[in-house]
Amino acid sequence: MAHQARAVVATSKGAPVSVETIVVPDPGPGEAVVQVQACGVCHTDLHYRDGAITDDFPFLLGHEAAGTVEAVGDGVTGVGPGDYVVLAWRAPCGACRSCRRGRPWYCFDSANAAQPMTLLDGTPLTAALGIGAFAERTLVAAGQAVKVDPAARPEAAGLVGCGVMAGFGAAVGTGNVGPGDSVAVLGCGGVGNAAVAGAALVGARRIIAVDLEPRKLEAALRFGATHTVDASATDPVEAIRELTDGHGADVVIDAVGLPQTYRQAFYARDLAGTLVQVGVPDPSATIELPLLDLFGRGGALKSSWYGDCLPSRDFPLLIDLYLQGRFDLDGFVSETLPLDDVEEAFARMQRGEVLRSVVVL
Ligand SMILES: NC(=O)c1ccc[n+]([C@@H]2O[C@H](COP(=O)([O-])OP(=O)(O)OC[C@H]3O[C@@H](n4cnc5c(N)ncnc54)[C@H](O)[C@@H]3O)[C@@H](O)[C@H]2O)c1
Ligand SMILES: [Zn+2]
Ligand SMILES: [Zn+2]
Repeated sequence: MAHQARAVVATSKGAPVSVETIVVPDPGPGEAVVQVQACGVCHTDLHYRDGAITDDFPFLLGHEAAGTVEAVGDGVTGVGPGDYVVLAWRAPCGACRSCRRGRPWYCFDSANAAQPMTLLDGTPLTAALGIGAFAERTLVAAGQAVKVDPAARPEAAGLVGCGVMAGFGAAVGTGNVGPGDSVAVLGCGGVGNAAVAGAALVGARRIIAVDLEPRKLEAALRFGATHTVDASATDPVEAIRELTDGHGADVVIDAVGLPQTYRQAFYARDLAGTLVQVGVPDPSATIELPLLDLFGRGGALKSSWYGDCLPSRDFPLLIDLYLQGRFDLDGFVSETLPLDDVEEAFARMQRGEVLRSVVVL
């Protein structure tokens, strides 16, 4: 029997989201229903609301969640009712051409629930990143539900499901930051500050945090930044060069996603340095760069989806580091709020007031 749930839905481009009653089917083969306990508000949810990801409205928003498995469908062996899980938007299929090449973190056919969740009138919902967790319960592919230590409180644990993993992985995974490296991070929201924290954890020597908001820069210092640059007052490229003996940083991470920040990241690298683009650009954004600079400066220009993570390997790792006091997940939780306040959380995010607002159910 299908269940109903209260959930946050975006019905048309740019319009305020609303709380609706949705229908969550019983799990079919390979699926799981998860009772959501907490779900962080990520900038990607706002991109969905604004029609900047796809036009497949209505969207069921929310994708940074922890909760408890309520029921599983036929053939599910990895998780069962009562398991405490963080939801992942990558569940490698094991069979696509990328998985078969031994690179499951690029899986081209990641699993999602086969059945749609719907509005009461039967209209199918598009679940944000195949999750849709601003909801009392949600239906996912069982492989998206990753078991973690239940000692981690859901407000903090859920953040590993997107922004924190994406930022941490952008530095440690995609950027391959290691001991002694110099790193610059453009944009220190939830994602950028997770990159700062990841770089600090693996022993980067200089970590330069760049943002327009003093509050974000103060947070970056708490996560391990060694220097901060206020990009509203200073040219970040010049500042990063000055802070790296005139050379530029070994790894520069763009956690904003604007042409201007990409350009800054490109030129703030040392020769043969690495640029990691983790901020999601608007579909209309383009960039022009001198081809000779692309050639002459060498190095690597990489995009980072989900920090090139493997959720089943990396979520329990980050949660364990958190529980051991070595990774400050609590520092990302700026506030908790009810399901009805997601629109307010978007406004606070846009005003630069929060790292993460977390919806608690
Ligand atoms: N690639 C992925 O897998 C992935 C995963 C999650 C989020 N994202 C994307 O990462 C980006 C950041 O997400 P978030 O949740 O941290 O957002 P956020 O809004 O919390 O943070 C963005 C930060 O960038 C700062 N900023 C804006 N313009 C700037 C500029 N010109 N120079 C310097 N700083 C500037 C803002 O002040 C803010 O602190 C978004 O585009 C989001 O969609 C990507
Ligand atoms: Zn695959
Ligand atoms: Zn996200």
